[in-house]
Amino acid sequence: MFLDRIKPLDAILAAARQKALKPTLGGFQLMLFGIGCIIGTGIFVLTAAGAQKAGPGLMLAFLIAGAVCVVAALCYAEIAAAVPVSGSAYTYTYATMGELLAWTVGWALVLEYAIAASAVSVGWSGYFVGTILNETFGIYLPQWLSAGPLALGGVEGGLINLPALLIALLVTGLLIIGTSESARVNAVLVTIKVAALTAFVVLTLTSSAFDVAHFNPFLPAGAFGGFGSGLGAVGAAATIFFAYVGFDAVSTAAEETKNPQRNVPLGLVGSLLVCTVFYILVAAGAIGTIGGQPIMGPGGVPFPAGSEELARQCALAIHADALVCSNEALAHVLRQIGWSGVGNALGIAAFLALPSVILVLLFAQTRIFFVMSRDGLLPEVLSRVHPKWHTPHVVTAITGLVVAVGAAFFPVGQLADIANAGTLYAFLMVALAVMVLRRTQPDVPRHFRVSGLWFVGPATMAGCLFLFLNLPADAMIVLPVWTLIGLAIYLLYGRRRSHLRQGIVEVVDDVAGEETAIPIHPPRS
Ligand code: ALA
Repeated sequence: MFLDRIKPLDAILAAARQKALKPTLGGFQLMLFGIGCIIGTGIFVLTAAGAQKAGPGLMLAFLIAGAVCVVAALCYAEIAAAVPVSGSAYTYTYATMGELLAWTVGWALVLEYAIAASAVSVGWSGYFVGTILNETFGIYLPQWLSAGPLALGGVEGGLINLPALLIALLVTGLLIIGTSESARVNAVLVTIKVAALTAFVVLTLTSSAFDVAHFNPFLPAGAFGGFGSGLGAVGAAATIFFAYVGFDAVSTAAEETKNPQRNVPLGLVGSLLVCTVFYILVAAGAIGTIGGQPIMGPGGVPFPAGSEELARQCALAIHADALVCSNEALAHVLRQIGWSGVGNALGIAAFLALPSVILVLLFAQTRIFFVMSRDGLLPEVLSRVHPKWHTPHVVTAITGLVVAVGAAFFPVGQLADIANAGTLYAFLMVALAVMVLRRTQPDVPRHFRVSGLWFVGPATMAGCLFLFLNLPADAMIVLPVWTLIGLAIYLLYGRRRSHLRQGIVEVVDDVAGEETAIPIHPPRS
């Protein structure tokens, strides 16, 4: 009885046809768009947390997480091209496996987008405080104003992360007044990010400080630290998976792509491959020059990243310059090897480019809530559109406040782990949805078909499950708890108010534009 309410695909496709966007994007543009969404806090900041979990094995971690994302990207590409409307994984699940599971996916996407936006805000704060305030203006923000107090397993040592709070609110304000990133701005920011990472790779790999001895031991915490430990190369992979999140945004551009069969996989897989290569080289450069061994606790086990114990260790003079202790890992490495000016320039690049990642994530979150509200699963007030700015201002403001509070009080590593838990669930469901759609609607036109889906789909699901189980236990537990809260809300609110239950299919293409409401015969409930 709970898997019955499936959004009719015909109605979705009819609405999508009305939109009929002109295909204008080529493979290269798609790749640029992807890189713009992907590169952010993951590489600029979480490199430190990744090294604390895996040491030099961080390079392997980037490879593992990248491989899972490549297969997931292929699944996204097929379903986005077959069901080309707003709502991403939530809509795909609604159209294939029904309302209940769709609700759980939409609910988990809050973790992917909103919590990830908090994480990127905290990452930005590290560069703002380090490069802009300290290095450029000589201003030292006290610890209590630049770090949050809460860590799930300990205390981070601050009171409030004021810069993170402010950037989240600023981006929220921009979204409310209707700012969206133009392709040109995206291209500029991608160039800045790629130039910064290229300079980093070249300067570190050719530096006289580079010493292969830094890679020994390669796996100080083992390859596999044990499920729920968050340690070892796979534990680090589960965390730095965050560095790849965002490529799913590219899949939504499938129907605007010229020759999608060729260009969509090129754009998605191409952007992921470019990032994977960069990430591995960056990790090699950072560890090869200043070392990246974890700070070990009792029994030779690394202290948990983001924990009180690690913060205490980092305050000691012997660890002051350790990679694993830095809030602005890449700029820190360059300063350590005598390239302070370039380090500061890289810090400025992160300062300029990370807000656009927050913007994309926050935008995605508000659109998911918007679609869920139009479907009647969330209160209608959330889909109210501002008369002047034509934006969903209510949902944007509420989401922005939540993101800002998360950013103000939690450490970046834990926010990223929690975001990863939700994202991995969404990716897993998308892989399942693609396979279900192949079976149930084999003839629906697909602009792009994954070849070898019966390998790629299960591989995506297995990879996501494996990474999920390797998250730290306290981040892992958030997903089931969050899902239970969501299910209670669904049963008490959404299930009765669902528009589909009332026999109406809403298909949203554009917030400001016309929504299509198609009456159907009410499904049994
Ligand atoms: N992949 C994005 C980042 O690393 C979310 O910031």
